[in-house]
Amino acid sequence: MMNQAAHTTEFAGSDRQVVATVPRVNIHAFCDNQQTVQAMQAAAADRRMSRAHVTIQLGGIAAAIQVYQAQPTPNVLIVESHSQRDMLLAELAQLAQVCAPNTKVIVIGHLNDVVLYRELIRQGVSEYLVAPLHQLQLIEAVAALYRDPKAEPLGKITAFVGAKGGVGSSTLAHNFGSYVSRNLGVDTIITDLDLAFGTAGLNFNQETSQGIVDALGQPDRVDQTLLDRLLTKCGDKLSLLASSGTIDREVNIEAHAVETILEIVRHNVPSIVVDVPNMWAPWIKYTLIQADDVVITATPELASLRNAKNLIDLLKQARPNDHAPRLVLNQVGVPKRPEIPVAEFAKALGVEPVAVIPYDPQVFGTAASNGQMIADVGPKSKAAEAIASLSRTLAGQETPAKGGKSMLGGVLGKVLRKK
Ligand SMILES: Nc1ncnc2c1ncn2[C@@H]1O[C@H](COP(=O)(O)OP(=O)(O)OP(=O)(O)O)[C@@H](O)[C@H]1O
Ligand SMILES: [Mg+2]
Repeated sequence: MMNQAAHTTEFAGSDRQVVATVPRVNIHAFCDNQQTVQAMQAAAADRRMSRAHVTIQLGGIAAAIQVYQAQPTPNVLIVESHSQRDMLLAELAQLAQVCAPNTKVIVIGHLNDVVLYRELIRQGVSEYLVAPLHQLQLIEAVAALYRDPKAEPLGKITAFVGAKGGVGSSTLAHNFGSYVSRNLGVDTIITDLDLAFGTAGLNFNQETSQGIVDALGQPDRVDQTLLDRLLTKCGDKLSLLASSGTIDREVNIEAHAVETILEIVRHNVPSIVVDVPNMWAPWIKYTLIQADDVVITATPELASLRNAKNLIDLLKQARPNDHAPRLVLNQVGVPKRPEIPVAEFAKALGVEPVAVIPYDPQVFGTAASNGQMIADVGPKSKAAEAIASLSRTLAGQETPAKGGKSMLGGVLGKVLRKK
């Protein structure tokens, strides 16, 4: 059996992959192996499964057959078996007798066998996975049952939040979005969730409408057509979903509204930058927990250190299967200001910063007043370099996928992916 920790690292290596969330469904798993039970438990506790209702038990297909003689099958039934091909097919034929036609069945087996895979799919099984499994593979398999196979892959959500106000989080979010769209050629939408005081429009020198305010005010009405109207285009591959910075409309933001909007946005572009305001509310916490990547910007002083620590602790705990939040130290080296040295700051948090950006009032000030990006104002500046490198790291360009084979890397993986 594969070592659990090693397996985790292996999957995390494929950083660019976005694993979708699972809708509000009932999932029953009948495992036949302790490792699968653990992976299933980890999957059930993951943020992407928070809407699903999951029950897990041992006993494999035989237990499932017994249970469903007396009760209806759930939306998704996951059964594990150690049996050889013919035996497994016979067990499943028996299960089929008690299984409702609209229940989607995922079979976990221990044979990497394409013939078996094809036969199972022919018989109506939704998916065949080979143990040992990582929790994210299980989540991906369930999520895939509810996704249109013809749809584009889901966009990756990168959330930027400041450890305190005014640390430069929004500036970095906008510059990251700009770099990804212009230099990496990736279609990007920047969503500015700071409805009253957001600066996305200003920083790109764009007249923005009340796009994000309208969207959050009526999340269930937002569809593809409406979204197109709410966006402000500000580059070949870059659009803003922002507000115009007026304070006469009060919108009570609900986590559900943010979730709905981001779900639509991520079906449209591969890269979504979310500028999260520096405050604390249930919807902020939710947005950070559900993001695919979180960037915390801090300045080298005590309040930032304390808040960054609290944020990192919370996010690590709530997102055990995701990359740890990234730390950016910004405005380092303000003249005459006593600062916590970068190394000490990093040590206190137990996190190495992904970028250390110097205090540069000339470049940042000019960029802010002209509505320009740092790369345009000071292309050779240390800040521009740091932003470029940060952007490439976040976009997964600096960590080429290692040759390590994931479970979905073999022949069966290719078959699974082709469907
Ligand atoms: N490295 C830097 N050197 C100098 N000025 C900077 C630097 N980074 C950001 N700034 C400036 O600091 C100000 C605040 O930046 P920004 O609005 O991006 O911060 P924020 O964390 O989003 O603030 P808020 O809490 O208001 O949302 C801006 O004027 C910006 O130009
Ligand atoms: Mg901001």
